[in-house]
Amino acid sequence: MEFSQVITTRYSVRAYRPDPVEDDKLRQVLEAARIAPSAANRQPIKLIVMRTTGREDEIRQIYRRPWLVQAPLVIAVCAIASQAWVREDDRFNARIIDAAIAADHLILAAANLGLGTCWIAAFNVKAARAALQLPDEVEPVILTPLGYPADQPGPKERKSLDELVKYDHW
Ligand SMILES: Cc1cc2nc3c(=O)[nH]c(=O)nc-3n(C[C@H](O)[C@H](O)[C@H](O)COP(=O)(O)O)c2cc1C
Repeated sequence: MEFSQVITTRYSVRAYRPDPVEDDKLRQVLEAARIAPSAANRQPIKLIVMRTTGREDEIRQIYRRPWLVQAPLVIAVCAIASQAWVREDDRFNARIIDAAIAADHLILAAANLGLGTCWIAAFNVKAARAALQLPDEVEPVILTPLGYPADQPGPKERKSLDELVKYDHW
């Protein structure tokens, strides 16, 4: 797929077919996250691939929408603050940006392969920590289902470029 087609094709998939994700496709989406840039190349992230079969109740505690457990896989993109680059000026820690870039790479790679995903931030953090058995220092940032879509994209509603962009000054 052309890059422009990948970014316009991707949408938040909120219905999934039960078909499994092929191992080589899973590997390609994980690889896309692996090669993502990160501040000072610290790569302060971990990717946890959950197989949903048999863990439906646990996953429903994390996020209650029925479509999450329809997907064969759920990927949690996690960050580790102590491993991330910190801006000296104001101690800003780049872990969430780094995790989001890795997630975006993964999600766009999935779209390129015909796989569906959906950014999920509105999950129950405590339930996610328990299900994923995360050590204290590991922070779940974003979840996404990964599987074959069973719905169709709606219209893309976005602000116009005029609303988003200013030139030279505010
Ligand atoms: C950081 C982030 C968090 C999001 N969290 C959720 C979520 O918890 N649940 C959900 O259904 N969609 C979530 N979304 C999806 C957005 O609602 C969606 O991307 C937006 O409405 C644009 O639609 P599209 O992805 O189909 O283009 C999230 C998206 C982003 C970028």
